[in-house]
Amino acid sequence: MTTISFQNVWKEYDGRVVLEKLSLDIAPHAFVALVGPSGCGKTTFLRMLLSEETPTRGRILVDGKELPREPTVDRGVVFQRYSVFPHLTVLENVVLGKEFAGSKFFGALFGEARRKVVEEALALLEEVGLSASLTKYPAQLSGGMQQRLALAQALITRPKILLLDEPFGALDPGIRADIHELMLRLWRETQMTVIMVTHDLSEAFRLGTRVLAFERKENSLLEPERFGATITRDLDVWPPKHAPWNVSAPRKTPKKSS
Ligand SMILES: Nc1ncnc2c1ncn2[C@@H]1O[C@H](COP(=O)(O)OP(=O)(O)OP(=O)(O)O)[C@@H](O)[C@H]1O
Ligand SMILES: [Mg+2]
Repeated sequence: MTTISFQNVWKEYDGRVVLEKLSLDIAPHAFVALVGPSGCGKTTFLRMLLSEETPTRGRILVDGKELPREPTVDRGVVFQRYSVFPHLTVLENVVLGKEFAGSKFFGALFGEARRKVVEEALALLEEVGLSASLTKYPAQLSGGMQQRLALAQALITRPKILLLDEPFGALDPGIRADIHELMLRLWRETQMTVIMVTHDLSEAFRLGTRVLAFERKENSLLEPERFGATITRDLDVWPPKHAPWNVSAPRKTPKKSS
């Protein structure tokens, strides 16, 4: 179980404040949905959690320890698009997720180690409903299938923290509803903490246990970029999704065709 703590975190680019005064604690196994206007720093927030960016000020702690300086496999990520490799098949994409994790030098896996990873990848692809498409390439998949593949690729390393940057934003509503079910199931079946950026408020409340809104509170006409965005709303979603009646609710299997 992972606790994340932001302690007065600021992020500036070339003296321009993007995010400021971020202080928050994220409980273990939370599903945090992050909303806010375009350009307010949501992706920057995720990139700091991935160690792709460092705060200009303040500290980010995971389980009481400073974040490592480099991205690590216990923090996975899925973007709106282009999370998977176009020149690899479905199965290869997921296996590669593990290969990246297996070696500092991004070495390939061989023999018994590879066989085990392929087995794990097959199980995960079954779980996300892609068993029938193992040898297909991403371009041959629908948008929904590509995002399921991206999820499987991110999950093969069993991350403690999963970061999602508008992962379902480009999907049709029907396919979105299916992938929402899948996402909730994957979250419930693990201990991972999920932080998801979305532009869609209903998606935020449908999936999140907590919804955070980022906004620039203060605007100076003379210096419109002087102030960064910060958390202006912090809502717990009701009813709690951890509740037993939710956990044992019947689960829909994702449609293979979408
Ligand atoms: N590497 C960088 N160098 C300079 N400025 C940057 C960099 N990355 C982001 N920014 C700036 O920081 C601000 C926040 O960007 P960010 O991508 O985090 O916003 P966002 O909330 O994710 O927006 P959107 O909803 O459009 O995805 C923007 O003004 C952007 O131009
Ligand atoms: Mg963004």
